[in-house]
Amino acid sequence: MTASPPVRWGILGTANIARRQFLPALAEVGGGRAVLVAGRDGRRAAEWAAAEGVEAGVPGYATVLGSDEVDAVYIALPNSLHAEWTLQALATGKAVLCEKMLCRDAADVGPVLEAARRPGALLWEAFVFPFQPQHQRLLELVGSGTIGDPCEIISSYHFRVTQPTNIRLNAELGGGALADVGCYPVRLAQELFGPPPDPPEVWCEAIDHGHEVETDAAAIVGWGGARLIFSVGFHRGYDAFTRVIGTTGQVRLTNPYHPGPADTLTVLADGKDPVVERPVTDARSFSAMLGHIHGVLAGDEAPRQLAVELSAPTASVVDALQQACRPRRRGADLPNRTKR
Ligand SMILES: NC(=O)c1ccc[n+]([C@@H]2O[C@H](COP(=O)([O-])OP(=O)(O)OC[C@H]3O[C@@H](n4cnc5c(N)ncnc54)[C@H](OP(=O)(O)O)[C@@H]3O)[C@@H](O)[C@H]2O)c1
Repeated sequence: MTASPPVRWGILGTANIARRQFLPALAEVGGGRAVLVAGRDGRRAAEWAAAEGVEAGVPGYATVLGSDEVDAVYIALPNSLHAEWTLQALATGKAVLCEKMLCRDAADVGPVLEAARRPGALLWEAFVFPFQPQHQRLLELVGSGTIGDPCEIISSYHFRVTQPTNIRLNAELGGGALADVGCYPVRLAQELFGPPPDPPEVWCEAIDHGHEVETDAAAIVGWGGARLIFSVGFHRGYDAFTRVIGTTGQVRLTNPYHPGPADTLTVLADGKDPVVERPVTDARSFSAMLGHIHGVLAGDEAPRQLAVELSAPTASVVDALQQACRPRRRGADLPNRTKR
């Protein structure tokens, strides 16, 4: 048996997420090469490519899509550009990994998923956690009845954003805490409870702290007999602590979304001592997802977690939450002490 050739990746955008997560994960998992990165400014893209170990940097995102040297495209652009560039990327027949949220508005999701349903099309939205062994362990615990019937998720996802130019603070670019981080607990609830009610049942309160988007939000989402309660925002130190609660126990996760080897999953079942596990082995949370995509393109694995199966309900719940929190509370301006 001969090994498959490495998957040749092209990246749209000299983005922080590509530098901090995607490229290190590609190096960790193997089986792929970063051959091209495109930026709005060709010289900056070339410098970025040289610094980050990408084979070449080119001007204009279309250059990557038009290249015969690229098998798969990673779209690391602001949310407002995802739909347009995902449609163009799918039209080339290349595999596409688009950052979350797949679209800024729920209305854009339909046409993108229609394109992704064409025979041979492959589109993933970059929620990486379902590919990790920690998540598989959580599904196993819930599926085996270890905590009884799962009935509630209580989740936090916070980190500090202080650079005024950060895309997360820009309404036109599709920023805001609900789209940037609120989408994670929503996707986790989909994983554990199944599809959400249609139309979604939501309560949401949000604060803008003087910005043009919500930078802090709390929400309750009804999920049939279960519920999701979450708090997300850009004003606290990193915190992704989450509890999955069942009728006879709960699982506590220090980080269900981007766990590293130090993160823990603690099982508390009624009448038993707590059991602490560390199921994560990859240093990079993107590695398992990239390994899966490489396996699919090599013909060794059937695709899982495709956008066509999962992205529309996530978008519809996030959209409902964004509508429900208007008008936002202004809140006080908060001091900026750290840079991100
Ligand atoms: N899956 C995850 O775990 C995860 C984590 C963090 C972020 N994300 C997602 O990844 C995407 C990028 O986030 P990021 O933090 O990496 O952002 P970022 O560093 O600001 O990168 C965005 C890139 O988009 C390009 N761009 C095009 N038009 C732009 C505009 N008008 N303003 C600013 N940049 C523009 C820029 O590249 P050029 O100038 O080279 O064209 C820029 O480098 C977002 O959708 C975010 O939600 C996902």
